[in-house]
Amino acid sequence: MIKFNEETQTFRLDTLNSTYCITVAKKGYLGHSYYGKKIADDDISYLMRQSEYFMSDGEVFREKHTLLDFLPQELPTDGMGDFRESALAITNSNGNNGVELKYKSYKICDGAQTLPGLPSVFGKNGQSLEITTEDPVLGIEVHLIYTIFDDSDAIIRSTRIISKAKEPVYIKKALSASFDIDNEDFDIITLHGSWARERHIDRHPVHHGKQGVLSMRGETSHQEHPFIALIDHNTDQNKGSVYAMNFIYSGNFVADCQLNQFESIRLVMGINPENFCWKLNPGETFDTPQAVLVYSDKGLNGMSHIYHDLYREHLIRSPYKKAMRPILINNWEATYFNFDTEKLLDIAREASKDGIEMLVMDDGWFGKRNSDNCSLGDWVVNEEKIKGGLKHLVDEVNKLGMKFGIWFEPEMISPDSDLYKAHPDWAIQIPGREPGMSRQQYVLDITRKEAEDYAYESVAKILRSANIEYVKWDMNRQLSDIGSSKLASDQMGEYYHRYVLALYRMQERLVTDFPKLLLENCSGGGARFDPGMFYYSPQIWCSDDTDAIERLSIQEGTALVYPLSTMGAHVSVCPNHAVGRVTPFKTRGYVALSGTFGYELDITKLSPEDRSLIPHQVELYKKYSDLVRNGDYWRIASFSQNHEYDCWMSVSKDKKEALVTFVQVLNHPNFKTRFIKLQGLDPDRKYTVSFPDENQADYPEITLSGSTIMNAGIGIKRDWGDFQAKLIHIYS
Ligand code: GLA
Repeated sequence: MIKFNEETQTFRLDTLNSTYCITVAKKGYLGHSYYGKKIADDDISYLMRQSEYFMSDGEVFREKHTLLDFLPQELPTDGMGDFRESALAITNSNGNNGVELKYKSYKICDGAQTLPGLPSVFGKNGQSLEITTEDPVLGIEVHLIYTIFDDSDAIIRSTRIISKAKEPVYIKKALSASFDIDNEDFDIITLHGSWARERHIDRHPVHHGKQGVLSMRGETSHQEHPFIALIDHNTDQNKGSVYAMNFIYSGNFVADCQLNQFESIRLVMGINPENFCWKLNPGETFDTPQAVLVYSDKGLNGMSHIYHDLYREHLIRSPYKKAMRPILINNWEATYFNFDTEKLLDIAREASKDGIEMLVMDDGWFGKRNSDNCSLGDWVVNEEKIKGGLKHLVDEVNKLGMKFGIWFEPEMISPDSDLYKAHPDWAIQIPGREPGMSRQQYVLDITRKEAEDYAYESVAKILRSANIEYVKWDMNRQLSDIGSSKLASDQMGEYYHRYVLALYRMQERLVTDFPKLLLENCSGGGARFDPGMFYYSPQIWCSDDTDAIERLSIQEGTALVYPLSTMGAHVSVCPNHAVGRVTPFKTRGYVALSGTFGYELDITKLSPEDRSLIPHQVELYKKYSDLVRNGDYWRIASFSQNHEYDCWMSVSKDKKEALVTFVQVLNHPNFKTRFIKLQGLDPDRKYTVSFPDENQADYPEITLSGSTIMNAGIGIKRDWGDFQAKLIHIYS
């Protein structure tokens, strides 16, 4: 519910369990007066900090800086005396900086607002608030937009900048959200990583000054992630306060936390202002992407539940959003570039016998691509490898009762390609400089309409040529050498954002033209695992690292914000291709079952022992996938914290059923049975606790109440060896 109290000039956004307040403060500045657990009183104007002893109260313009540098602001602006991190910076056509926003009006409407060209949350069961502020000197209006839903605790924010000026203005910084809060011994949580090691959880105390995460790579990145959370030092998985922000965007971002002289913290998130400058002509509008704010007093699990539910209900649009995904087998780790029709059909034949439902042909089927040094952009089937053509291969796979999927990297151009020979200027480059290569490829300048159309049509043409039901859309390098012969010199700072808008346009076309397609995004593994991409694809390849143990940390960090239904996870062979580790096939299966599930191996070469486990894993997936995809995820124990074991569970929304995965990563000598205390069950309900894959003598089925399972725990005996895993089914 969103309300405005005329008397106290306070907007109040009440979600299920939280309250967020904005107050029109002195001189019309928009102040931030409260965010946290739901509160009852209507008049909370005393919370608006704007009169302290060191301010010459009533004469704020004699001491404007004292006010602005202290006032908790809703959208802090640059250059006028708030010397903390700003959220908005604009330069006018004379080169003068400075933005000063004053409250003008508001409107409240039903439902969510859709942002043109950008992924946006949707849903009718909510409300949106649009507060209009203006800077008459610059001639601009800035609208602060908030959306809430009846079934969620998230607050979705963005800003819209409208020029009413007579000359162009230049937006140097346009963040999507900002709020100020008193420090309460907060820690900060971010996600960091690298290729094959994405989204590990990082937690440390907040210190004075600025700290945060960013990307300058043109994509979300393996390295840092558009997520930031402030949590009480004592907050754990299940209790304590969490204030989090996540960004529905797939390009350069920044998320910063700044602790200042008054022990208050400013948290901001938005498009990275570095190398950003957007020319706004008279009458034009600029929309920032949406940032998703979450407050939870139920610890990190509570925060995760809010994000998971919001994205499943209000962001993912695919027809597969709630549906079970086909179990796929991908040939990348099986063959790399060395395959042909026969090899793929051999894999498909064997896979179909074990219940695998889709063959995905990965990189190497087009142009003359037998290694990663050529042919990106030449999206023509290589019939020397795909003998008989693509349609023949797809038909043969379909005859086996399997679906067919295909890999593309549409945003790229190899220097060794027909496309590059014809259009060398389609590679992103700075005139006069040789562009830098990465994985021996350049990036296609999709901000040029003709290049965007070419890349999109290349994909669409292949999809129209055969019964292709899945696409893996990859992106294997970062953006550099930013330049485009099509952009005016005073618009070069728009490049990175225009690139992301072009990507969104292409994917929008794809899901519109092929509405039944299952799209999986990917970027060298998980460098584009972000909520922006959920709008187009219900699943994203989580990491090129398929090692079951490394995946514990990757999937834990990913699931901190994103539902398990979105996490691409496959079983591969050992020694693992990313880390060389050898783990039991059973454990690899259990870990992959917590994602979309599939195989990434040459099934024709698998040992009979491992192979014999596949039909059972397929059966487990069929039995438990609904629970995993649609249930509530709970982190029970974290190997990255305890260095010994990992445990997580999914509980059905009606609390009648749960699936628990336990992995004993490292064994210790002379140790006793471990009692694991679970979460999320109904304390008064009786449950059967069963270990479906264990010897019944060691693990007989028992009946226990939810309260016993959650407070006393269930027993896991010590296994011989490392990397042993257990699956526990709890039902009533
Ligand atoms: C990226 C992907 C892999 C695979 C290769 C193909 O690295 O993450 O899964 O598709 O590209 O080149």
